[in-house]
Amino acid sequence: MNENGLTEGDFTEHAEPFRLFSEWLADATKSEPNDPNGVALATVDTDGMPDVRMVLLKGFDEQGFVFYTNFESAKGREILATMKAAMCFHWKSLRRQVRIRGPVEIVSDAEADAYFATRPRGSRIGAWASKQSRPLESRFALEKAVAEYTARHAIGEIPRPAHWSGFRIVPQAIEFWHDRPFRLHDRIVFSRTADGGWEKSRLYP
Ligand SMILES: Cc1cc2nc3c(=O)[nH]c(=O)nc-3n(C[C@H](O)[C@H](O)[C@H](O)COP(=O)(O)O)c2cc1C
Repeated sequence: MNENGLTEGDFTEHAEPFRLFSEWLADATKSEPNDPNGVALATVDTDGMPDVRMVLLKGFDEQGFVFYTNFESAKGREILATMKAAMCFHWKSLRRQVRIRGPVEIVSDAEADAYFATRPRGSRIGAWASKQSRPLESRFALEKAVAEYTARHAIGEIPRPAHWSGFRIVPQAIEFWHDRPFRLHDRIVFSRTADGGWEKSRLYP
């Protein structure tokens, strides 16, 4: 990788997108002021109306890109209805963008349990206390719910709520974008082929 963009060598060297993604995320981890794994997540509702919000990427490999949420939230309901989503990273410090889209799978219970167990105790209580995306009558009502669940789980492990788990976007396409002078940016898109491999092409900026 050259600071001025994606070289012809970068283009020919990568036969699949995951190593390049891993390198870019590692670069962002060094240069972003916070949340290098913060990513815009786009969904559509049942009328086809788009919706977008930030989430944190919590894992990725050849299987796909994983984030966690409340399945009864707006995004949870939208994904469960369509089983499709898209993501867009923008790392300002690097002037780079990565776009990912594809069908969505639900992570296994074991995978969700393992991740839930790594969360701070307060976040695990929060997953129980927050009816994410539903109307909240007052901040006090949320604090009361937190106090109730804290008391209920005062002793022992806090189990993962059934409505809280992870989604995995199985990428059909991943596009890497790197800023270049005069808006003549580099774009490389990897698209999944019928045999499960990848084909890549450059796009006009
Ligand atoms: C940087 C950042 C990271 C976030 N990460 C998550 C996340 O991983 N999971 C989540 O459910 N919400 C996360 N949120 C909150 C969501 O953006 C959103 O407010 C919430 O999930 C409700 O969205 P919905 O009503 O579209 O479901 C994050 C917000 C920000 C700004």
